[in-house]
Formats: sequence, C-alpha cells, structure tokens
Amino acid sequence: MINVSILGYGTIGSGVFEILNKNKQIITKRNSGEIRVKSVLDLRDFPGDPVEDVLVHDFSEIENDDEVQIVVETMGGLHPAYDFVKACLEKGKSVCTSNKALVAAFGPELLSIAEEKKCNFLFEASVGGGIPIIRPLKTSLAPDEILEISGILNGTTNYILTEMTEKGADFETVLKDAQDKGYAEKDPSADVEGHDTCRKIAILTSLAYGSQVDFEDIYTEGITKITERDINYAKKLGAKIKIVGFSKRNKERISAMVVPKLITSEHPLYSVDGVFNAILVKGNMTGDVMFYGQGAGKHATASAVVSDIMEASKHMGINIKTIWESDKLELVPFEESVSKFFVRFSGTSEENTPKAVKAFGDVMPVEAGYNDEYAFITKAITESAFKKAAKEVGNIINKIRIDA
Ligand code: HSE
Repeated sequence: MINVSILGYGTIGSGVFEILNKNKQIITKRNSGEIRVKSVLDLRDFPGDPVEDVLVHDFSEIENDDEVQIVVETMGGLHPAYDFVKACLEKGKSVCTSNKALVAAFGPELLSIAEEKKCNFLFEASVGGGIPIIRPLKTSLAPDEILEISGILNGTTNYILTEMTEKGADFETVLKDAQDKGYAEKDPSADVEGHDTCRKIAILTSLAYGSQVDFEDIYTEGITKITERDINYAKKLGAKIKIVGFSKRNKERISAMVVPKLITSEHPLYSVDGVFNAILVKGNMTGDVMFYGQGAGKHATASAVVSDIMEASKHMGINIKTIWESDKLELVPFEESVSKFFVRFSGTSEENTPKAVKAFGDVMPVEAGYNDEYAFITKAITESAFKKAAKEVGNIINKIRIDA
C-alpha cells in the first residue's frame, strides 16, 4: 500500500482524488499495489464530499506524516507551493505536480533535492495537460538529439483562433464568448499574451537540452493583435494562424520563441483546432513525432498526475534520472532569429510595392481584397533585418511569422 497526500482540492486535486477512487481496480492492478489517499490539504471545508474524511487544514500534518510517501501538489502558484514541495522532497517524499509555474521557475533545484533524497519530482501534467510529453521526452526519445519542438500548448488561445477562423468573428467577441462559456479566465492575460505557452516551452526546452531555459529569456508575443483581416489573408494563403511555442537546434545553438505563426495545410499542427493541444518533436533519429490531445481539463490533467503517482510508486527509493541542470542555456539572441514574415502595411500597393521591394528585396504579394492596405511575404530574414526594413517602409499594420 502506498499512501498519498494531495495539496489543494481544486479542479485538478479533486480530479486526482476522483480518478484514484473511480479507477482504483485498474490502477491497483497495473501498479502492483494499492494507492490510498491518506490526506488532502485545503483551507476550505467540503461538507458532504467524500474528501471530508481525509481533509486536513495544516500542512505540517502531511509533512510530518512518515506514512505519506508521495505528495501531489495541485495548488498552483509559486508560494506556498514551492515551500511545501521542497519540504516534502527534503523529507524523502516524492512529489507529483501539475504546476508549470513552479516547474519552470524551480525545476532544477527540486530535481536535485529529489536526486539527493532518492525520491522523485515528477511533472507530466505541467505541460500539455493530459498529453504524455514529459515522460516520452525523458524515455522514448532519450536516444535522440532533439532538433525541434513546436507546440500548440494553450487551449484557450487555440480555441479563440479557431473560432475567429471558422466564424469570422473578431478577437474581443470570441474572447468574451469564451469567458462566458468558462473556456477563458476572467483575467485572460496569461493565455492570450502567450505567458502560459512560454512557461511550457521553457520546460520542454530545458528537458530537451538538459539545462535551464529561463522563460523570461524567451521572446513572447500573444494573439491580441490578430484581427479578422489577418485571418482572411491566412485563408487566402491556405493557412491558419496558430500561436506556437517552439525551440530549434541549429548546430550547437538553440533558439526559442512564442509567437503567432502562419501554418500551412501540409504542416502537422494545421489541423489542431479548438481547445486541443499538440506537440511536434523532431528527433535526429526518430524524425517527426506528434503528441495530440487535451491540454487542459480536470480529468485529462488529473490523469497525467495519477500516471506520475504510479511512476513514483514503482520507484520507491530510486531516483528516476532527469537531466535538467541549473546552468543556463544561452539562447540565440532574438534579433538573430530567422523567419519569413507575412506583413501588412497601410497604403495602396501600386504606390508602395516598389518601396517595399527596395527595403525587403524579393517579396511575394498577398491579395485579400482590401484597398487601403497591401501585404506581402518576405524571404527568410533575421528579426533585426526585418525591423530595419519595416522602419524604412513605414506604416506597418501587423506581421506574422512563417517558418523559414
Ligand atoms: N489556461 C491553459 C490553457 C490551461 O488554456 O491551455 C492549461 O495550462
């Protein structure tokens, strides 16, 4: 029998509790032993809920309970989550978390405590919700050099962009509708400004290359500036606009970014719509592998946490090696990153195309029937070359990157 405690009985924590009860038989069989929730920490009371029998309000009851071998952290936020997780690991208890902010900020430190104490710090649910991606990166893809990771890592923004594309609605209208339906938070900034995606790609990139990628170092652009017109141009090009978190290896250098991209129909991420997430990984031996599924949601995310509990329970007293050193991975400076750019300028194309050609060199004009602006796709150029040329032309309305 393995005793587990859950910190936080919110959406994910209660999902973990529910799955461990509902799927008890199959979990016990596959785990070669029973997993029992011994205690659940929450400040609130839950009258009538089955959790009542195991509810505690004081963390020290869990920290000092020697029978508790695995602790689930589903509180979210950095504090007190970090302090509680660290205390548990220092006592030799394995920790399974869904908290991407915690993992992105303190991953290497918490992993190294787990290694020292011969327990485990596992975080499958922190990226891609129910999609298995952390464990496959650490195990199935372990023989490969990772050349590229490209992910639609946020369900809220993918839903908004999909609705804008399918219904021809503008960003504000779709966001409001998504908030009314409970798909988007009241304060949607972490999603729509790309910060959520940024933390997730920081975690994946750190794991892929074994060193710390600070999310603050990743250039991040959200979807708030995407308009109906951008979507219409994308349609003319047989493409969709998706916010993509990606990192790429070019010889020994790694670049990473979170930006809206024009994705053409032959790209594997093109068909990933609605609240779904997908992560495309390119290994130097395996080639392309894509992981697709629900990137959020109570049961999908909680199932990923339970898979970590099972993994931890099969490795009592054994640390599962995870290479993620605290030394910082130097990313290619943003200005040197190379993309093609789809660009819209105000003015007429007759007057302005020669000016654009002079600044950008060869460009491919794109028509979507608007007389007050003109648009084109540049050749592959660096961010700094783009900035210089765009300044020369002036009147830029918007730009969206395309894979070079
Ligand atoms: N807000 C996130 C999303 C939840 O929309 O995907 C999972 O991190």
